[in-house]
Amino acid sequence: MDRIRIVGGNELHGVIPISGAKNAALPLMIASLLTDDTLTLENVPHLADVEQLIRILGNHGADISVNGRRERQGESYARTIHFTCRNIVDTTAPYELVSKMRASFWVIGPLLAREGKARVSLPGGCAIGTRPVDLFIEGLQALSANIEIDSGYVNATAPAGGLIGARYTFPKVSVGATHVLMMAATLANGTTVLGNAAREPEVVDLANCLNAMGAKITGQGTATITIEGVRSLSGARHRVLPDRIETGTYAMAVAMTGGDVILEDTDMALLDTALEAIRRAGAEITETNSGIRVVRNGAGIKPVDIVTDPFPGFPTDLQAQFMGLMTMAKGTSHITETIFENRFMHVQELARLGAKISLSGQTAKIEGVSRLKGAPVMATDLRASVSLVIAGLAAEGETMVSRVYHLDRGFERLEEKLTRCGAHVERVSD
Ligand code: EPZ
Repeated sequence: MDRIRIVGGNELHGVIPISGAKNAALPLMIASLLTDDTLTLENVPHLADVEQLIRILGNHGADISVNGRRERQGESYARTIHFTCRNIVDTTAPYELVSKMRASFWVIGPLLAREGKARVSLPGGCAIGTRPVDLFIEGLQALSANIEIDSGYVNATAPAGGLIGARYTFPKVSVGATHVLMMAATLANGTTVLGNAAREPEVVDLANCLNAMGAKITGQGTATITIEGVRSLSGARHRVLPDRIETGTYAMAVAMTGGDVILEDTDMALLDTALEAIRRAGAEITETNSGIRVVRNGAGIKPVDIVTDPFPGFPTDLQAQFMGLMTMAKGTSHITETIFENRFMHVQELARLGAKISLSGQTAKIEGVSRLKGAPVMATDLRASVSLVIAGLAAEGETMVSRVYHLDRGFERLEEKLTRCGAHVERVSD
């Protein structure tokens, strides 16, 4: 199994191209099930999760072709992928596929809206928390779906004339449930109003793409989204928005190591709260023509307290990375995780590098240390793994990160992007 070997101590200098957002690409790809026409997505990142979803969509009948390569130094970035699902050949999403990636549960929305039925395996628990599906079920029931849970599967059926628009207010903000309800409501009879909806940029991106396909959605980016149902959707061409989590991760890496890096093809407005926290920690962040410039010279890292929250709050997907940064702050910081109950698995691994962190409920107290020392580490989820990479970049000596498949789920060409900026990072195959 591959591992990533890092020899810490180098500053980062150069340009890092930011990929299309994984968490936008996945729901956008799933939206292709809503139409028999072709949905073309540009700027799709080349990631294990995208490849897995390609297999899942193929299982439902989608015909998928990849082209539009933009060559950069011999490597292809930013793929353009065409999805055509003339007929849905299977409305079942089996356990073997859904258990590998939670987002594949989201096919339930389009399948139910287009075919009137769906049988989708429950995704089960996962490393960062229990992650139930009650909000999806309640929301789809509000659209008049009949839902039964049987042998680990959710069996959903729509009334004979199709789903019926309704008013539904989420008791808790959920990105996935907002995606699913929005997709399902595009083909419902009448108007749906979603209250307490997720405001994440990826929700806005999906709504914009659905509108390009002929949907009538307004209010995306606010807590109230209104969807006027239409009879059918057509194809469209849509560009996946930049990955704000990848952007924030590399910004934190520069804040950690020092240096001067341009994050290209990204947008500050996607991650204001996180960039503000990095600024308070001591990095200079400015907008450039092509993206964001992050600089940290000389001065040490200052302690900053953060609390994760749904957008526009500090994203839970950057919490582990920020903790990595805070391990070397000059003072004590506190990080509170409010979205997932078990998203602190990186704490013990960061401790292996010499970090001083104690946990009390949902809050971590981080006492900054003046140096970290490389060690073998592993992590159990994507963002936790990359926090170890960030810490490894600043640690003395060698850090070996195992279970690299977590990183491959969400970071396109991580070692290449960092190496080009002067880091000593390599993939080691055993
Ligand atoms: C999305 O997951 C992201 N995944 C996650 O990124 C991200 O951490 C999360 O949103 C929060 O921002 C993708 O976009 C593919 P939620 P999602 O539903 O939609 C609870 C990464 O590393 N909840 O917004 O699954 C849930 O348990 C991943 O890229 C219910 O209680 O997250 C959590 O506590 C990890 N019942 C909270 O809501 C439900 O029916 C928010 O989860 C659904 C969710």
